[in-house]
Amino acid sequence: MTNDSLLLAQPFTLKSGMIIKNRLIKAALSEALGNAEGGPSPALIKLYRTWAQSDIGVLITGNVMIDRDALGEPGNVIIEDERHLVFLKEWATMAKSSGSQVWMQINHPGKQALRGLNKETVSPSAVPFSPKMQALFATPRELTHVEIEDIIQRFATTAAIAQKAGFSGIQLHGAHGYLISQFLSPHHNRRNDQWGGNPENRRRFVLEIYKSVRAKVGAAFPIAIKLNSADFQRGGFTEEESLATIQALDEAGIDLIEISGGTYEKPVMMQSSHTKVSTASREAYFLDFAKKVRQLSTVPLMVTGGFRSLNGIESALKAGDLDFAGLGRIFAIEPLAAKRLINGLETQNQVKPLTTGIKFIDDLGSLEVTWYTRQMHRIGHGIKPIPDEHGLKSFLLDIKDKGLGILKNRQLRAS
Ligand SMILES: Cc1cc2nc3c(=O)[nH]c(=O)nc-3n(C[C@H](O)[C@H](O)[C@H](O)COP(=O)(O)O)c2cc1C
Repeated sequence: MTNDSLLLAQPFTLKSGMIIKNRLIKAALSEALGNAEGGPSPALIKLYRTWAQSDIGVLITGNVMIDRDALGEPGNVIIEDERHLVFLKEWATMAKSSGSQVWMQINHPGKQALRGLNKETVSPSAVPFSPKMQALFATPRELTHVEIEDIIQRFATTAAIAQKAGFSGIQLHGAHGYLISQFLSPHHNRRNDQWGGNPENRRRFVLEIYKSVRAKVGAAFPIAIKLNSADFQRGGFTEEESLATIQALDEAGIDLIEISGGTYEKPVMMQSSHTKVSTASREAYFLDFAKKVRQLSTVPLMVTGGFRSLNGIESALKAGDLDFAGLGRIFAIEPLAAKRLINGLETQNQVKPLTTGIKFIDDLGSLEVTWYTRQMHRIGHGIKPIPDEHGLKSFLLDIKDKGLGILKNRQLRAS
């Protein structure tokens, strides 16, 4: 039973005719639960079986990689061919077992992969990271035209395999500083060929990916994209270019756009929300930008980052700023949170600022990700999450399990 007076409990029909049963979407959370071959592990499948019971409209998976030579983080699921098809089918079946849809987020990290994870990193141009990040992230090699064409095809191949496995749609990861986002950014993309030099050329990569995916999956299969409102980085992707990109993707036929923002160098997508629950009518981070999108496009819109309360979500929907509220971290500590919201109840837990109490460790910037990843792993292993687990305890347990390497491996993995 849902609360029919709530807008967030109402269905929404995409232009393909596909009906999404309500307005809540689980945003991508990289689960780091791929097995040694890059296939979905039993714990990953169990995690989605649990989330499926929340009655949420759509579960978007954590980012899945299109190339095993270009991982974003350890434990990624990788889809280059059909070798994992049986387990991918099981993953999709479990995720859909209570009527939710499951969309696979697909990604290429470009330069934003930690040193040592891949043989080399690539990007539209060989632009180094900011000095304080260079110890962790190598200066990438500039992609050749042939490699760019290959990556475009890989997105299409992965999407087609997701479709074959029974996923209900896919989402391109065009946000947070990964390869698509690098192509869009005048800071990272200094090319002067057809892939760079002006906004139209910088948009070509994402539009070509969209077209090649569409050609493989057909008109009825939802293709969404997560896009930055801006990079919040000097010389980076601006709101103006983001609006123009949204317009171009809308004209090309994209089914849904999710708004986020930031990169590893400016991780604004995961600000710690200090907003009080009862008064938080404008708690989400990117609502002002969403209003601007609404003025120029009718593309179905999802906004992610900062939603914490029933009132916050419902007010934003009523104001007409968005069609879907995207929520991330809450589902790692309260897997059935969507069920409560759809029934007009507040969640039982709150996403709170995390700290170890030790400035040096907090400054590493890894806690937010390691803490939430540990919670997802608990759910995947059939153990209850611990929403009030102390940051220091989580940090020390992570070191115990994985060794001091996590100081390097997990740093700034904001996805
Ligand atoms: C552990 C963790 C992993 C994440 N992985 C991804 C990812 O794979 N892809 C993505 O687009 N965003 C990823 N994000 C960002 C979330 O989708 C979302 O944008 C962010 O958590 C803000 O939403 P929230 O305030 O509801 O948590 C991740 C966030 C966390 C905490």
